[in-house]
Amino acid sequence: MDVTPQTDNEQATLWNGVAGRAWVELQESLDQIFKPFEDLLVEAVSLGPGGRVLDVGCGAGGTTLAVARELGAKGRCIGIDISDTMIAAARSRAKREGTTATFICGNAQAHTFEPASFDIIISRFGVMFFEDSIRAFANLRHAGAENAELRFVAWRSAAENPFMTTAERAAAPLLPNLPARQTDAPGQFAFANGDRIHNILNESGWADIDIRPIDITCTLPEKELIPYLTRLGPVGRILRETDDRTRTHVIQRVRAAFDPYVHGAEVRFTGACWMVRAQARSVSAPPESVG
Ligand SMILES: C[S@@+](CC[C@H](N)C(=O)[O-])C[C@H]1O[C@@H](n2cnc3c(N)ncnc32)[C@H](O)[C@@H]1O
Repeated sequence: MDVTPQTDNEQATLWNGVAGRAWVELQESLDQIFKPFEDLLVEAVSLGPGGRVLDVGCGAGGTTLAVARELGAKGRCIGIDISDTMIAAARSRAKREGTTATFICGNAQAHTFEPASFDIIISRFGVMFFEDSIRAFANLRHAGAENAELRFVAWRSAAENPFMTTAERAAAPLLPNLPARQTDAPGQFAFANGDRIHNILNESGWADIDIRPIDITCTLPEKELIPYLTRLGPVGRILRETDDRTRTHVIQRVRAAFDPYVHGAEVRFTGACWMVRAQARSVSAPPESVG
């Protein structure tokens, strides 16, 4: 997962650069780790209001392709992502699979979608990076049909997800330039606060908002742990620029810090997330009053 840069341009740069490349390189591992979340979204689509699906921040397309497989000829799934690198990977996977899924490279916050053209809008960890979340979710509301459903998973707080910050806590004494995470800034933990999610959705045209904590066991093979911790997140980014000696020390120290999660050949941790559901509010209805 990734960090909390300050501007949307910075997000686009990050995901078109080092973070996008790392996600593509580790795509198979990441799809395995996050498969339980993919399954929840595929299930939501299969029970959902219709077969026109948009996958926001689709990355290398794992969830988009799984949804397209589920829908078959009954529907279509389109993935949108701001990263050329990720979309190129998604398109080549789609070609290999011969799927009906298609992909758009664009900023979901501002992209001109055909109005009312989706029955369900989903995302697996792809909606926490907007510069202006209200504008982004209003844009997605506009893309949704009447009664369209929104379903996404997002991380709860860093404190509830210690696995995700193990590397930076262990490496901090050796890497003084490691950036600190910023509360509510675009990034992995931007939606840690459920009330904030509720306010954003209420202000952007969504109703019947339901935000539930889910705690999901995630796994990866132990042999994939070093690639994971040396390429992803703030530590992964800094390690690309550090000298060999520091790099070796950091890897030793960080790998040891992950020991509590290693069970023989498997790494296991709990992903503490929100499952968010909402329905498109009718255009004439006002937002829910707050307070
Ligand atoms: C944590 S990754 C998740 C990728 C994918 N959903 C998955 O689960 O494998 C976040 C994704 O959101 C994308 N993203 C960030 N800001 C975006 C924006 N404004 N519009 C569209 N995609 C965006 C990134 O490029 C990245 O692929």
